[in-house]
Amino acid sequence: MSKANILIVDDEPNILGFLKINLELSGYSVFTASCGKDAMEIITKEYPAIILSDIRLPDINGIEILKSVKECCKDIHVILMTAYQDMETTIKAMQAGAFDYLAKPINMDELDVIIKRAIADRQINERLEYLCLEQFTKYNTNIIGKSCCIEDVFKKIGIASGTNTTVLIQGETGTGKELAARAIHYHSSRKDKPFVAVNCSAIVETLLESELFGHEKGAFTGASYLKKGRFEIADGGTIFLDEVGDIPLGMQSKLLRIIQERKFERVGGEKTINIDVRIIAATNRNLKNLIQQNLFREDLYYRLNVFAIYIMPLREKKEDIPILAEYFIGKMGRELHSSVKKIAPDAMDTLLNYEWKGNVRELENVITRAMLHARGSVILKEHLSGDLYKSPVVHAGSGFKPEPEDYNIQSLEEIEKMAIAKTLEAFNWHKGKTCEALGLNRPRLERKIRKYKIEKA
Ligand SMILES: Nc1ncnc2c1ncn2[C@@H]1O[C@H](COP(=O)(O)OP(=O)(O)OP(=O)(O)O)[C@@H](O)[C@H]1O
Ligand SMILES: [Mg+2]
Repeated sequence: MSKANILIVDDEPNILGFLKINLELSGYSVFTASCGKDAMEIITKEYPAIILSDIRLPDINGIEILKSVKECCKDIHVILMTAYQDMETTIKAMQAGAFDYLAKPINMDELDVIIKRAIADRQINERLEYLCLEQFTKYNTNIIGKSCCIEDVFKKIGIASGTNTTVLIQGETGTGKELAARAIHYHSSRKDKPFVAVNCSAIVETLLESELFGHEKGAFTGASYLKKGRFEIADGGTIFLDEVGDIPLGMQSKLLRIIQERKFERVGGEKTINIDVRIIAATNRNLKNLIQQNLFREDLYYRLNVFAIYIMPLREKKEDIPILAEYFIGKMGRELHSSVKKIAPDAMDTLLNYEWKGNVRELENVITRAMLHARGSVILKEHLSGDLYKSPVVHAGSGFKPEPEDYNIQSLEEIEKMAIAKTLEAFNWHKGKTCEALGLNRPRLERKIRKYKIEKA
């Protein structure tokens, strides 16, 4: 393995020579410069991993080199050396982002340790960057769909990511709520900070508080160390409260406070901790129903529902099924080394007629299983699992729909009026799209708008 490149900057030829020989003996490739100007030239040309620079140079000083390096190439570690050891320069150097600071005369053992640490640190940073990138591509580029409802979701993700507002994502299980939450985070200015997901229904009530807010050492039996909660870990980034409808009432008031004030105390602690997090909550339950049953605080609902995103069930955006299927064939094909390339027309009909209670997640599973069964390059009807042959069930609203009060309306006319108004609103009064979605022609739509006196909000 090739060793790192190091640039040494010093105006004293003896020191340059001494360090160069020693570091080359340790196997590093070494460049040298005797002034700031030469150093900057080598930096842009050779991009060294580490710069070892004197602070006092004939032209620009070492701290200036450090500052310009940190501006253009953050990953280069700069170690500063000086004969004028004083506290103030040390502080300035560290504040400007120096990796470390060495006093002259240089002790080679000490230098060796610092260089090794700098290299290890670079490797960790590279790995982290890779992981972030992986997360980013994994979660960011793959919301697939071309239906109007998914386009609306894209649009809302775009708007939400440009702000810091709290977002509430609603939709049935498997519709892609977490995917949307990650997309908001990775498109926002917080993308380099953590995205912390908490599944509120998976954590037992007694542990939820310390999980969210952390605890001090000795806060309760078994708390043998201080533990940071998820809110603290997410500082600067985004916290994703999944299944927020399952949070017990007692915890809801604590959540309300953190949403309002961005402040909390660890369990067993007195110190108030301030944090800066964006909150995204998701649920597949109908929060308004939970409010009516006194299981969810209304004030919390309004605090969460500042910016609402609703993701439609797959059976209501069937036009997305073919491209989702194609996408999963491509994605799983690479993972399974499968030769499957497409789906036979009658198998596609079966997919289009199925009710998809598990939504996109279920579709992904069905396609994966079919690919494992298929022998050639085409998925046939017989490769699809048994459930898909049951006659399609008409959904009578058992799934989640926002604004349930809309469905208490009695007359058919009222329902029609509401459907037209909602659809117009959903498509921003784009009448062509509204006609398409409702199966109406344009003159009919115009007549209905007049008849019901529907107006732009
Ligand atoms: N539009 C989409 N394009 C591509 N993949 C999707 C899409 N929607 C969902 N998926 C995939 O389906 C699976 C389920 O998505 P996700 O976990 O985001 O759903 P969810 O709404 O959070 O479900 P639950 O309510 O069960 O937690 C994931 O593997 C996700 O990648
Ligand atoms: Mg989820």
